[in-house]
Amino acid sequence: MPIRLDERLSKIASLVDYGKVADVGCDHGKLGYFLVSTDRASKVIATDVSAPSLKKARELALENGVIDLIDTRLGDGLEPLSSREVDTVVIAGLGGDVISGILEGARQEGKEFAHYLLSPNTHPEKVRAELARCKHTIVYDDVLVCAGKVYTIIKTQEGEETLDANETKYGKFYLTSANFKAQLEREIQNKKNILDKNFSEELMGKVKDLEALLETLKG
Ligand SMILES: C[S@@+](CC[C@H](N)C(=O)[O-])C[C@H]1O[C@@H](n2cnc3c(N)ncnc32)[C@H](O)[C@@H]1O
Repeated sequence: MPIRLDERLSKIASLVDYGKVADVGCDHGKLGYFLVSTDRASKVIATDVSAPSLKKARELALENGVIDLIDTRLGDGLEPLSSREVDTVVIAGLGGDVISGILEGARQEGKEFAHYLLSPNTHPEKVRAELARCKHTIVYDDVLVCAGKVYTIIKTQEGEETLDANETKYGKFYLTSANFKAQLEREIQNKKNILDKNFSEELMGKVKDLEALLETLKG
């Protein structure tokens, strides 16, 4: 059965280099199923900390005859994986504090992977800061709007780099990202709409800061 992914998961799938992939926090298991059924991955290890979630992923793979290509493993973060067992680790749809905690735990255990493909729902700056400690270089970093929500997607490879404070906060390529600029414009407008109904000095200050940031993008 062919499967349609939403824009967020489609973008993540398009950034996977062919090879072995782990989908950590796989839940429904759609990403892993899509990757093996479209020959974008040779093998997927789908993991989740929740047994009912993992069951959904296993059933999807079983029903569609790809269980020989999808290994399902119960466990927290990167615990179910050994170092370099896969080429790419995907962690999507979790908060940035949880994702950075998972990366930190793996780093402390000495686990290494060639690529991370991460989509934090919140706090992407925490993820970028931890990636630097993991000695990973960001090769893709952009925002995407899907069903009215803003998502960050970050892809890495091994290698050290230092991001400045703004790159850590807004994204490595924020100065040139059309998506980031559009998102900033939307955020400013939303805050102005709130100000029109309910003025607050604090919010006004935030709008001014964001407008100053927008000016640096235009300049
Ligand atoms: C919102 S779903 C995201 C599903 C899918 N990755 C996506 O992006 O559509 C989050 C999943 O992550 C799992 N999860 C949460 N914390 C986890 C952890 N520390 N390790 C592994 N899985 C976790 C949850 O059980 C849930 O199934």
